[in-house]
Amino acid sequence: MAAPHDRRILVTSALPYANGHIHLGHLVEYVQTDVFVRFQKLRGHRAIYLCADDTHGTAIMIRARGEGRSERALVAAMREAHLADFDGFQIAFDHYGSTDSDANRRLCDMIWSRLRARGLVVSRDVRQLYDPEAGVFLADRFVKGCCPKCGASDQYGDSCEACGAAYTPADLVEPRSTLSGARPEVRSAEHLFVTLEPLHDFLATWTRSSGAIDPRIANYLAGHFLGEPLRDWDVSRPAPYFGFEIPDAPGHFWYVWFDAPVGYIAATEEWCAARGETLATWWGRGAPNEPPAEIHHFIGKDITYFHTLFWPAMLEAAGLALPTRVRIHGFLTVNGQKMSKSRGTFLLARTYLEHLDPGMLRYFYAAKLSGGIDDVDLDLDEFAAKVNADLVGKVVNLASRTARWLEATGLSAAYPDDGGLFARAAADGAEIAAAYEDCDTARAMRTIMLAADRANAYVDAEQPWKLAKAGPASAARLQDVASVALNLFRQIAVYLAPVLPAFAAQAGALVGGPIRSWDESQRPLTGSPVAPFQPLMKRVEKPHLDALLAAARAEAEREAAARPPTPVPAPAPPPASHSGGPTMTTPPTTGPDSAEPLAAEPLAPECTIDDFTKVDLRVARIVTAEEVPEAKKLLKLTVSFGGDATRTVFAGIKGFHAPESLVGRLVVVVANLAPRQMKFGTSEGMVVAASGAGAPGVYLLSPDSGALPGMRLR
Ligand code: MSP
Ligand code: ZN
Repeated sequence: MAAPHDRRILVTSALPYANGHIHLGHLVEYVQTDVFVRFQKLRGHRAIYLCADDTHGTAIMIRARGEGRSERALVAAMREAHLADFDGFQIAFDHYGSTDSDANRRLCDMIWSRLRARGLVVSRDVRQLYDPEAGVFLADRFVKGCCPKCGASDQYGDSCEACGAAYTPADLVEPRSTLSGARPEVRSAEHLFVTLEPLHDFLATWTRSSGAIDPRIANYLAGHFLGEPLRDWDVSRPAPYFGFEIPDAPGHFWYVWFDAPVGYIAATEEWCAARGETLATWWGRGAPNEPPAEIHHFIGKDITYFHTLFWPAMLEAAGLALPTRVRIHGFLTVNGQKMSKSRGTFLLARTYLEHLDPGMLRYFYAAKLSGGIDDVDLDLDEFAAKVNADLVGKVVNLASRTARWLEATGLSAAYPDDGGLFARAAADGAEIAAAYEDCDTARAMRTIMLAADRANAYVDAEQPWKLAKAGPASAARLQDVASVALNLFRQIAVYLAPVLPAFAAQAGALVGGPIRSWDESQRPLTGSPVAPFQPLMKRVEKPHLDALLAAARAEAEREAAARPPTPVPAPAPPPASHSGGPTMTTPPTTGPDSAEPLAAEPLAPECTIDDFTKVDLRVARIVTAEEVPEAKKLLKLTVSFGGDATRTVFAGIKGFHAPESLVGRLVVVVANLAPRQMKFGTSEGMVVAASGAGAPGVYLLSPDSGALPGMRLR
């Protein structure tokens, strides 16, 4: 290995799919990677953290259709949401790209032509289920039917959850497309494959002896894949498909898993372009005078074979650098079970951020992860206990009970005798660093907390509060004791900085300035000023956790309600009711209507079209509706304008509409009304309804069928 400060380290996390929000499961990976990169930077290495959104594929195409917008509009909105979530969790990418970028298309072309040149691309017909109504080929999970073995209904196309049988979608009894409900047909289409068998020996050797892969994973690969001839990899999909069209095979698109990992290189290229660096220094195979850069991929265990077989095969065939390490982690469970929407434990990043400090989750994950592929359980009681005991009880406590004695004097001019405490924790630095390097952050956190325990025992024994009471005679001793405690505190903050960057910044603001280097853990500070103590982190209490779970449950319900109730058809001409004819729900009119409402409320003074267009009226879907118990007239509604745009609106319609009957229906909302602070919360708009003389009641407006949330009234 190169001398410590010569290391150039390229680090990636798997590219999150653009068809969903970041949840706490994803964050196991992004937090772990971010900690690793921050650690390397703190050590003075040249590390870059690259990631991107994974934008292509059938799922995105289908979701965009369901939401009535283009794939690129969906991808752009999701990118903003992902970046906000990552930012909230202090995940500091050096560059965040997209697989739908020019750079990625060019690099895919380049790799593809190298695969072609090596004769590794072959073509074959594939029989696949096709949805004639939605007009797409169906991946297994878009087909449901009865299990051919046990007859259980509503089973996916690849396996039965009732009896465990595995089969192909064509075996299903009564199959139907989950997209349109149509009965799928078997159709044949040409696909392009990469033949992997010529790379078999390479993969067998590389997985075993390069050091890139944990030997247990290498054994698994040998047992499941490498023990027999490698099957060709199907890398193309026929149109329609949201992705890159293959230049030398019109009508065929690269399968999402072909262009996704190339996104790692594309992100590097964009990062290089912004800095005048060359891509070859990171993804080339190295020059005699320049050792190759290290490449570390962090991934979840579910995508192991993409990263340990297909991806290295592509890189090898294209003559690019191979990963130095593929670091594989397990899955998150919440309270011992898979995250579940119905149990209210499907926790989105943004929901967490509304209720709890991101540093707490970063610390909890760090304390749990030891670099292996075991699953990680977020037991919420354990989470609260751990954060409160370690971060609040040990680390913050160290400063909160000593810093104030130094506000006037600063740290002692010479570092006092501390019985070897600082030196001992400084010596721990090597072990802590080794643990970070191995991604065994659990070990790093344990070692750090032991140092915190020793520091707290010192404070307990020295009792600075007693010294303070004793007056001027003990002032020098008090300064020394507090200086030792605060130095031990800052030393711990340096060690925790990769995990808790915001906390480290606060610690630096308290004493010693910004933490920039790991070496700052090796020397105590003397004479530095000490700022007034600011609260650093509060305890997690039960109500915080209850509020988080309640919000997650509400989120899941909202999402279920917002999901289009009917299957998603291919984009089609608007339904006939758009032509203006009466809809089925309009009662037939007989005879002239009563003159009473208009007489009771004559028309308002004339206004101009400009006056009217100032009011932005939109179609919206009610996604949640609940009583406001204390209010006589109000219901609290969440309305959606499509995509992620939602508003909370208090509507004076209680008593006329049962809340549950409102969920899912379309209404008209004044979307640009200034928010109004009400007793029960802020109302961010107004639902339009009719009322007047002649009949009691409040009547909501509905658009003709076919209207979509977000459409403007004009
Ligand atoms: N788009 C692919 C990766 C392409 S990489 C070239 C993908 N995306 S994902 O959004 O489903 O997952 C992104 C990463 O998060 C993956 O490494 C995945 O293993 C990880 N996790 C997703 N859910 C997870 C948990 N519940 N727990 C832990 N990690 C999880 O896969
Ligand atoms: Zn079955």
